[in-house]
Amino acid sequence: MTEGLAINGERLLERLDRFAAIGGTDQGGVNRQALTVLDRQSRTLLTELALKRGFSVFQDPIANLFLRREGKNPDLPPLLIGSHLDSQPAGGRFDGALGTLSAFEVLETLEDLAMTTERAVEVVAFTNEEGCRFAPGCMGSMAFAEGAIPDHWRTLKATDGADFAPELAATLQSLPEAQSRPLGFPVHAYLEVHIEQGPSLESQGLPIGIVTGIQGTRWLEVTVTGQTAHAGTTALTYRRDPMRAVTAALAVLYQEIMPADPSARFTVGRMTLSPGATNAIPESVRLTIDLRHPTPERLDAMEARVKEIFEGEARGEACKVMLARIFDMAPTQFPPALLEVLDQAAESAGLAAQHMLSGAFHDALFMNRIAPAAMIFVPCRDGLSHNPAEHVEPEHSIAGATLLLHAVSLLACV
Ligand code: GLV
Ligand code: MN
Ligand code: MN
Ligand code: MN
Repeated sequence: MTEGLAINGERLLERLDRFAAIGGTDQGGVNRQALTVLDRQSRTLLTELALKRGFSVFQDPIANLFLRREGKNPDLPPLLIGSHLDSQPAGGRFDGALGTLSAFEVLETLEDLAMTTERAVEVVAFTNEEGCRFAPGCMGSMAFAEGAIPDHWRTLKATDGADFAPELAATLQSLPEAQSRPLGFPVHAYLEVHIEQGPSLESQGLPIGIVTGIQGTRWLEVTVTGQTAHAGTTALTYRRDPMRAVTAALAVLYQEIMPADPSARFTVGRMTLSPGATNAIPESVRLTIDLRHPTPERLDAMEARVKEIFEGEARGEACKVMLARIFDMAPTQFPPALLEVLDQAAESAGLAAQHMLSGAFHDALFMNRIAPAAMIFVPCRDGLSHNPAEHVEPEHSIAGATLLLHAVSLLACV
């Protein structure tokens, strides 16, 4: 019944180019971080495109953006498809935008073909998936799934000094055309197209990955405090140097965590030294640690080891350590029944697909807590992502959206 269904590939590719220009960088990537003016511009463009096609536009209090194409029965929970529009500071053109624009392409194709669906289909662009400007990541999908915005988010500060609450308010106000909607509502299922962000599909020459689940993530913020003092006059015995403690701790952890376990990931992506003077021993060093693993037990063990090593090295330098967990995403498995629908859709679309686990986190992880969720991966060049050189071959962008269209017709038409 779904054989022969096709999206408009040229339109999808043109849209990808248009959105990549919003925050486009000299390196060919995108810097469109969450809740910035550029993020707002991309939401405005998506809203304009949606209104032109007669879709209704909604926004909830965390600024998740919804574009709704009505179904025969408006009371049925909608089928939700989408991703995010925010990017990393040195991000690529496809991370998030591909999923959001593939979903929008599917909505437009349904309209082009005048296909009636039993239930409404809605495209969603979730707020702040990346979590790099304001932590944590997946703010939009987390608040949606929990039906509330955690109080402490209101006072968050961005890495660029901006405050969360006014940035959120300005983003909400930047879309006067959008109707307001409360946080969270019943959802039939959620599907997300995304680049794999790893090398597995490309190395096997496969156009599609059907994602069976997402490994766990834990973000820690470690602050080591010593005493600032003169760089030239302070001899070793008088120093309480937090940087010495940090480098010693990291040398142990880099050696220990990843080599011992091929499934473990350990990344330090941000470090701030205060007061930050060339000729002063730092008073404090603050750094983030990103831990990933498919099992919660190993995440617990890695976190315990980080604590133990930092405390030991700090003691040796007469420094203090504070360790805060700023983000914790338990691993998730997507429901087999929905994966079967994707298998069936891949077959009817004539696309070779393989089941795989996601190493990156995604909004689908939180959506899976309140509705059946699953994801479609497409390959990216050299497995590279969170990098301006991120690249998806046009035929793979088209393949992902085509599979999504087939899956939507299986899920929304009955
Ligand atoms: C998402 O961007 C992640 O870091 O996995
Ligand atoms: Mn993403
Ligand atoms: Mn990302
Ligand atoms: Mn992500």
